[in-house]
Amino acid sequence: MLDRVIYSPRTKIPPRRPWGLIAALLASFLTVTAHASNPAILEGERFHPVQGSQGMVATSHTLASEVALQVLKNGGNAIDAAVTAGFALAVTQPRSGNIGGGGFLLYSPGDGNTPEAIDYRETAPAAATETLFQDNAGNVVNERSRFSHQAAGVPGTVAGLALALELHGTLTLKDALAPAIRLAQDGFAIPQRFTEGLEQARERLQRWPATKATFYKEDGSAPQPGEVFKQPELAATLQRIADRGIEGFYEGETARLIVDEMQRHDGLITLADLKNYQPAIRQPIHGTYRGFDIFSMSPPSSGGTHIVQILNILEGFPIGEMGHNSAATIHSMAEAMKLAYADRSEYLGDTDFVEVPLTGLTSKDYAAELRKTITPDKTRPAEEIKPGQPAAWESPETTHFSVVDRWGNAVSNTYTINFSYGSGITVAGAGFLLNNEMDDFSAKPGEPNAYGLIGGEANKIEPGKRMLSSMSPTIVRKDGRNYLVTGSPGGSRIITTTLQVVMNVIDHNMNIQTAVSAPRIHHQWWPDEIRIEQGISPDTIGLLQSKGHKVTPSNAMGAIQSIMIEGDGTLYGGADPRRSTSSAMGY
Ligand code: GLY
Repeated sequence: MLDRVIYSPRTKIPPRRPWGLIAALLASFLTVTAHASNPAILEGERFHPVQGSQGMVATSHTLASEVALQVLKNGGNAIDAAVTAGFALAVTQPRSGNIGGGGFLLYSPGDGNTPEAIDYRETAPAAATETLFQDNAGNVVNERSRFSHQAAGVPGTVAGLALALELHGTLTLKDALAPAIRLAQDGFAIPQRFTEGLEQARERLQRWPATKATFYKEDGSAPQPGEVFKQPELAATLQRIADRGIEGFYEGETARLIVDEMQRHDGLITLADLKNYQPAIRQPIHGTYRGFDIFSMSPPSSGGTHIVQILNILEGFPIGEMGHNSAATIHSMAEAMKLAYADRSEYLGDTDFVEVPLTGLTSKDYAAELRKTITPDKTRPAEEIKPGQPAAWESPETTHFSVVDRWGNAVSNTYTINFSYGSGITVAGAGFLLNNEMDDFSAKPGEPNAYGLIGGEANKIEPGKRMLSSMSPTIVRKDGRNYLVTGSPGGSRIITTTLQVVMNVIDHNMNIQTAVSAPRIHHQWWPDEIRIEQGISPDTIGLLQSKGHKVTPSNAMGAIQSIMIEGDGTLYGGADPRRSTSSAMGY
């Protein structure tokens, strides 16, 4: 596998860690679930995090949390547990857990060594062209960029998770896949959310016979809560990976099934695209905020860059004193968010193809310049804001999980097939859904994608290029040790969701469950509005309106599964209540 990996910028690969399985004998502590609490330390607090001392897992599905926690109890490390969770989610949560998509894994070792990012974002097939999603008149055809076989980028998840295991894991790929194969083969009792998702997406999904046959009953109805749901084709696909390693996905039977699917429907992915797919090891974006070190995802994600940029701008305001979700705080955040999203539209893209001024965008000096444009009493209309001049050139359904092991190693992983159920297209015979990540490219500079995000030349379609993402797996260190592990789904709102949990902890001194649960806001430059979740007071909304803001109520934003590690080693898990299946488990 390692000879297939891109190193960009070049990163030294640390040696494998010889974790002993003896540790398993120590793993006889009580499992604590999302309803546990510790009144001694949490007295008076509204939302209680899950507590542990040896290991903690927070994912968006109870079954994935369970199998990952078991890996930790058996003596596995955070990477072993994360990879196991990643494959388990591909079975239990097909709307976003995946092997047909891609993502980013941030790894921060417990010994204080430098964090590292594994980029397994999808790539554009070799046959993709800049105008792929435009008609003859140059109009963008969203149907094609979102719901066709051409919408699929070359999947990266299998290669990325396998690489993480190879670099830092102790389990074999076969062992990490075993729980997922069992869940696919024997089935699992489905939760309400599984049924609801399939019912909501029925029309879009049932257009494709293989999707209908995989996820619905013969009469076309969705399986009901409590029923056992089996996926024999997916089990066989996962088994081929277990038997042959990544070649069991990128070559052989599975690759053939993917390419057959493409050829039947004008898709672009070829056997060569699959064989040539390479994950990359990247240097994470690094910034500081009020003395904490922030590590987050570098391009082709925009997430880390803009989280650091927004934090740099906000560092100049006394946010803690201004108060959580006060009008003054929300106003400052929204103004800073607008400036960052304007820069995103201009500068961000895959650094293997374009130069991105990362140093400038994340510098304190540039943030100070931008901060001067923010006035306390009045919002700046979006049309007045243009991308800035940083110096020094150089599904909404996604799912995030965080893991910390007994050695303090931390994994923050976000992966996706883009929309809920991706393109909606299941690879016939292979039982998994394909992403529609090609929509994250700029189909035409200046045109918004499905999240309303505007992209520029830097994010135009090119063969082999990775489409710009907002996924922001993030790890915060305090005095050199891992402190906060976080990240979220939510399309364009991933950046602001993650940002707010970091601020809730650092500025507002919240425990992790409170930080995760607190109402969130979002501004992305265009549309020129602050979106707010339920729970922001009418008084605050009134004050924001008096500063000129348009304030729009929004559905819940993000699902941020987070872990906090206190100085004494106590682990706190915060599962996001915005997803009914979210689950933090520790021991
Ligand atoms: N597909 C959403 C993202 O990567 O940002």
